[in-house]
Amino acid sequence: MKLVIGNMKMNLTLEEIKNYVGKINYNDSVVICPTSLYVPYFKNCHVGVQNTYYKEKGAYTGEISPMQCASMGIEYTILGHSERRAYFNETDDIINLKIMEALSNNLKVILCVGEKDGEDVEQVLESELSGSLANLVDLSNIIIAYEPIWAIGTGKIPTNEQIMKTTQYIKNLIKEYYETDIKVLYGGSVNKDNIESLNTITNVDGFLVGGASTKVDEFNRIIEVTCK
Ligand code: PGA
Repeated sequence: MKLVIGNMKMNLTLEEIKNYVGKINYNDSVVICPTSLYVPYFKNCHVGVQNTYYKEKGAYTGEISPMQCASMGIEYTILGHSERRAYFNETDDIINLKIMEALSNNLKVILCVGEKDGEDVEQVLESELSGSLANLVDLSNIIIAYEPIWAIGTGKIPTNEQIMKTTQYIKNLIKEYYETDIKVLYGGSVNKDNIESLNTITNVDGFLVGGASTKVDEFNRIIEVTCK
């Protein structure tokens, strides 16, 4: 089963959310990750958050913990997103701690990895994956989202061949080190116009959708094509 995950980032007002929730064609493959404040408005679908901390509770002003998310029925957390790495100085070591805390509270982790423009793709992915997955033995609750940083929010995307090659590289690497299969999603400028073509890439297990997930018609089209 393919997954369609909406990363709404820090977008929409309460009025806009109320209008949005009733109009999305949810199914079992759809996961919405709204701004955490709005989680209670998403009742009929799988829900995730866009970040969680690596402590269970305590004096960490502004953070939310996997234990708290689990207590609200939240199933997923996005970790290692390039915006967290770039604007909040998250390193692979921090992401590794966050993953361990999330997994120990039974959250499913969407781990984002990807290269900046001009960087060596395989080198970056190997370093991000080995760092953020260090010391883990069970990867069954981890999904990888391959998101080239230069493709996020820019309208630029790699060719289907490049996405297929990179997805396979990630799957092979995980197989080699962990002797397990893993789901790999593609993310970065997925929209209603390119989804038909992206959906033909046979080894991609779904999509992490940013900007387009905040627009009802656009996200419904992406769900329709991916889940047909
Ligand atoms: P985008 O974002 O679809 O707006 O490019 C994807 C993401 O950041 O997860």
